[in-house]
Amino acid sequence: MAAYEYETHNYDVVVVGAGGSGLRATLGMAEQGLKTACVTKVFPTRSHTVAAQGGIAASLGNMGPDNWQWHMYDTVKGSDWLGDTDAMEYLAREAPKAVYELEHYGVPFSRTEDGKIYQRPFGGHTTQFGEGPPVQRTCAAADRTGHAILHTLYGQSLKNNAEFFIEYFAIDLIMSEDGQCQGVVAWKLDDGTIHVFNAKMTVLATGGYGRAYFSATSAHTCTGDGGGMVARAGLPLQDMEFVQFHPTGIYGAGCLITEGARGEGGYLTNAEGERFMERYAPTYKDLASRDVVSRCMTMEIREGRGVGDKKDHIHLHLSHLPPEALHLRLPGISESARIFAGVDVTKEPIPVLPTVHYNMGGIPTNYWGEVLNPTKDDPDRVSPGLMAVGEAGCASVHGANRLGSNSLIDLVVFGRAAAIRAGEIVDANAANPRLNQASVDKALARFDDLRHAKGAIPTAELRDEMQQTMQSDAAVFRTDKTLAEGVDKMYGVARKMEDISVTDRSMIWNSDLMETLELTNLMPNALATIVSAEARKESRGAHAQEDHPDRNDEEWRKHTLAWVNGKVDLDYRPVHLNPLLGHNEGGIDLKKIAPKARVY
Ligand code: FUM
Repeated sequence: MAAYEYETHNYDVVVVGAGGSGLRATLGMAEQGLKTACVTKVFPTRSHTVAAQGGIAASLGNMGPDNWQWHMYDTVKGSDWLGDTDAMEYLAREAPKAVYELEHYGVPFSRTEDGKIYQRPFGGHTTQFGEGPPVQRTCAAADRTGHAILHTLYGQSLKNNAEFFIEYFAIDLIMSEDGQCQGVVAWKLDDGTIHVFNAKMTVLATGGYGRAYFSATSAHTCTGDGGGMVARAGLPLQDMEFVQFHPTGIYGAGCLITEGARGEGGYLTNAEGERFMERYAPTYKDLASRDVVSRCMTMEIREGRGVGDKKDHIHLHLSHLPPEALHLRLPGISESARIFAGVDVTKEPIPVLPTVHYNMGGIPTNYWGEVLNPTKDDPDRVSPGLMAVGEAGCASVHGANRLGSNSLIDLVVFGRAAAIRAGEIVDANAANPRLNQASVDKALARFDDLRHAKGAIPTAELRDEMQQTMQSDAAVFRTDKTLAEGVDKMYGVARKMEDISVTDRSMIWNSDLMETLELTNLMPNALATIVSAEARKESRGAHAQEDHPDRNDEEWRKHTLAWVNGKVDLDYRPVHLNPLLGHNEGGIDLKKIAPKARVY
């Protein structure tokens, strides 16, 4: 192996990733005086949060009655009763505070006539514990809400002296012999130097792994880097079978058309011009939860009522909306529709198709963001020195299906929670840990092996094989047969990593090597997804198993844990059923969130 020299940096906290959750965590840590580094493979304001469009959910009640209990109920129902009750309560209760903080930090929200934060309807968000009309709960900055949040949080983090290490690729976690995380080893992409970040607390905010699929709204950078590092450290991933398809990706291109488009009055039709959602979800129609809408669209196409020459997509109509409303509230998607579908939204419908959008599963954590390393005796055992937030983590607040606009609020509520917790447990005056040299060497040996890989299969070819397999065998609808075949195929694909070919051996701007490292992260995420999906013999949330069409709470109301190391080992841990506040303390009435049929 080549000898790699490296520079060591000592911090109280190192945050890996600079999207919404990474920046909110970084800001919160720095505000408390913790010496904080944020290591990111892309420039912070290019992180995938920049693409979040429709908004951020919080029961501000600016547009009509709302409260956190209704928000919590909708989240529980959206999760198809797989979410952890404490985490869902924490999210709904803290959401208004977290949004007002964003406002005070400077996020340029859209405004109502009387100057309040503008809120729009979104799928699955209702009033009166699902008995009343849709609620306007999603706080928006036009249809560029993620963009607005990201820029504000980056500015605030700089103001609070957080230090940024930009275009550094995290190779692996540094773990002590007794399982304490001690930081990360990273590669600086623009000059080829290696850096060791020694930290008392490491926070993974690396985003999802949408790019395990062929067609995704996720950026090409969404390669599950945190999940890959965690799997290699011998820790499990949780609930990976739950992959969200957004109903309205642009047909062919996959780019997102926000659910806010339906929130503002847009609707879907089939080849017969029928507003088919009225048949499937008579109450909430096009504003049913997005897993439901995606399945209905897929059924329309399967039954021959898709639009276009191949009858393989659906139309989203906005042309009945006033042009000024489109200009004010939906300027970004009007532009995306023009560029990527050649459509003028004031005149024509947008061709759309369900597209992979979000991973409900990820690195298991408690609602403080502390990573869990569960055992049978202690399913909530904390893995010291390590946190995960945002889409990389699984708190589990979204359970089997996330509601639209609950992602941005998850990023800021749990990024903030991680900072609060770190403020309690990280001692800024203590010495940094003595690094486990063997762990650093192991990371560098893996890096060197990949850098000099002389196999026969180019990275792009193997990545494509993985993406096609996941796209066809872990899709919107799944069966015993497709999943079993998918597991076999994915094991075959993963084995081919041994024959990977990297042709560029340089250390500077070596995108061949970086994409190979990313593929080594995507692969365990993809394997865990399909193996966990094959094992779950029920339908719940985004996991629609046609051979087991019903939800089975008795056997399957539990979280899947997947350890990936060549093969995937599964186990399960209980769902948290207890709220944080008792009903007599102002908490939710547990009878309101008891499991029942999930209809919209
Ligand atoms: O449709 C959207 O704007 C996406 C929002 C989300 O995934 O939360």
